[in-house]
Amino acid sequence: MIWLELAAVLVIICFSIVLLFGAPYVPTLKPQVEAALKLADLKPGQTLLELGCGDGKVLAAAARRGLNAVGYELNPLLALIARLRTLRYRRQVKVVWGDFWRKPWPPAEGIFTFLLPKYMDKLDKKVERYGHKPVRLVSFAFQIPGKRARSERSGVYLYTYK
Ligand SMILES: C[S@@+](CC[C@H](N)C(=O)[O-])C[C@H]1O[C@@H](n2cnc3c(N)ncnc32)[C@H](O)[C@@H]1O
Repeated sequence: MIWLELAAVLVIICFSIVLLFGAPYVPTLKPQVEAALKLADLKPGQTLLELGCGDGKVLAAAARRGLNAVGYELNPLLALIARLRTLRYRRQVKVVWGDFWRKPWPPAEGIFTFLLPKYMDKLDKKVERYGHKPVRLVSFAFQIPGKRARSERSGVYLYTYK
């Protein structure tokens, strides 16, 4: 019984600690995953970065389309789930456990995020400084303040950086 309680406490700690650093875990729904990948418009062999990859659903969908994908996830339990979920695509998908604000980003043609409004300005500045442009940023639900999205589909917004 004590193990069950300890496990429950561990799960609560993992999910609440993320709240100090970023957006909480809420998975993107399938229609929005489809919309995001359409807007990203990447070709097989190109790379999608997912900033906060949750359970790996988007990474797996990207790999099914022949893309390479790198996901960052702060919550160790979710990072583990994402790794297990994408195991069959291990040649294409890498899951990095850690804070995407602090980790270096590899070259990629597309970025997908589902964060919170308060992080969008910081994200914009970070992508502006990204050394591998051009890159297409796709954000579910939240827009970049003061910037006009190039396109929108099912609540997913596309921004391009050159
Ligand atoms: C709203 S959820 C979206 C999950 C996934 N991208 C999806 O669309 O289904 C945000 C995710 O970002 C993760 N996250 C938040 N801040 C982070 C950070 N600084 N570094 C890495 N992951 C972070 C959270 O743990 C959570 O899983």
